[in-house]
Amino acid sequence: MKFISAANIKSRPHADLLVLPFWKGGKHAKAASDFDHPHVSIKALLATEDFAGKEGEVVFLYVDKEKEPRVALLGLGSLDKISIEKLRRSYASLVKACRSRKIENVNIVMPHLPDFTEEMSVRGISEGMLLANYVFDQMKHDAIKDQRNVLLSKATLIGVSKQGLAIAKKYDDIASAVYLARDLINGNADDVTPQHLSKLAQEFAKKFPSIKTTVFNKQRIEKEKMRLLLAVSQGSQCDPAFIIMEYTGDPKSKDRTVIIGKGVTFDTGGLNLKPTGSMEKMRCDMSGAATVFGTLKAAATLGLKVNVIGVIPATENAIGPKSFKPGDTFKSYAGKTIEIGNTDAEGRLILADALAYVCKHCKPTRIIDFATLTGAMEISLGAETTGLMSNQDALADSLIRAGHETYERAWRFPLYEEYKDQLKSDIADIKSTGGRGGSSILAALFLQEFVDDNIPWAHFDIAGTAYLGEARYYLPKCGTGVGIRLMVEFLENL
Ligand code: BES
Ligand code: ZN
Ligand code: ZN
Repeated sequence: MKFISAANIKSRPHADLLVLPFWKGGKHAKAASDFDHPHVSIKALLATEDFAGKEGEVVFLYVDKEKEPRVALLGLGSLDKISIEKLRRSYASLVKACRSRKIENVNIVMPHLPDFTEEMSVRGISEGMLLANYVFDQMKHDAIKDQRNVLLSKATLIGVSKQGLAIAKKYDDIASAVYLARDLINGNADDVTPQHLSKLAQEFAKKFPSIKTTVFNKQRIEKEKMRLLLAVSQGSQCDPAFIIMEYTGDPKSKDRTVIIGKGVTFDTGGLNLKPTGSMEKMRCDMSGAATVFGTLKAAATLGLKVNVIGVIPATENAIGPKSFKPGDTFKSYAGKTIEIGNTDAEGRLILADALAYVCKHCKPTRIIDFATLTGAMEISLGAETTGLMSNQDALADSLIRAGHETYERAWRFPLYEEYKDQLKSDIADIKSTGGRGGSSILAALFLQEFVDDNIPWAHFDIAGTAYLGEARYYLPKCGTGVGIRLMVEFLENL
């Protein structure tokens, strides 16, 4: 979506719709701007109780004069409860109303927000609109596609300064990164394979001079002795891949944030096969990888002055005659031997090799991983909140703060030693799984075994937030692209 600005109401261009903001009042909505439309009787509408100005409420009026054939009154909720997030949600609701009417071009009268800077209002409005302006319809037949899905292509922010417009442009860049992640998650697992992700990483290096990509193929992974990644991949037709993308935005600095994303392009569960009902959405199991791609794309497009290394262990967890077996033991990249408890706990295995690799080779200042790791996290926190576990309070606190700013909220779980008793193995150094209770924590404790104690590390379990059964606010059904906006915020605050 292209954002432009108009100096004032008189100089606005022609469009499909003019949007006027309103606060929720007692019985009647109250104008949130001082623009009084010359040709529609807003007073008459407000005299009825048809429109209360509730958050996201939209009423359409039609005119035959003026620069737009339609006027939308948009409710922002109560003035005393307004926040950037409320703006995101209200303007996302506007976008939904526009899309169902095939409206492509809108003029927006900005609300008066006494306690907001221009940056805050533009941020809320543009982010809400952009994140809602997404559809995954690549699989639809063309004719049907033409009829159904129209996206907004242009929004004119009336009265917004040049700096304000630059803010909208920034969120447009971030939204493009989120769309990429959503597309990767929503795409067929047969298309979005480890090789597809490798190719994309190589394209990143061609497109962005600030990114250098290295891909380890199966032979190289064998040579490196990443035996856990190999074990998970051995039941699949596709070779595994180990992807490293290095973004250098601050060449003089030694500070490096390593982000690792779980890249299981489809999770059948392996020989511990998932039952019907649990497997259907498992193309989402590379959502952590999608977060890494999105974060690197956003960092490179915005030219963030930080260094980020994105690492993706990519494989399918398939079932077949060569599948790795529960009860067998494998030697990890770190050297520790692992008894496989359950082949469906594959994410922690490939992440273990990735964590050990980056500790040894990448000189990380901090490591942050994103993974759709445990079904238990979906049960604990649902779709509203991502689970966070960390070995360092300062890192966890900054990530939680970034989560609040972007409303990609995270909640920290403990990593108490005592849980670890469950990972004891009689035949190997450690077992990959334990009991059902606290299994998200146990998975994180398993990962921690592969992180050097002196390196700050945080683990996001996005199993509940990466892929939605129902659309919510500005988040679509299916892949959400969670974590990218949080990471951009975090990197900017470094
Ligand atoms: N990919 C799944 C976790 C998952 C579940 C992601 C639901 C998204 C939605 C993961 O590989 C898995 O199957 N974990 C098992 C581990 C168990 C066998 C210890 C789980 O959580 O049930
Ligand atoms: Zn699994
Ligand atoms: Zn999985």
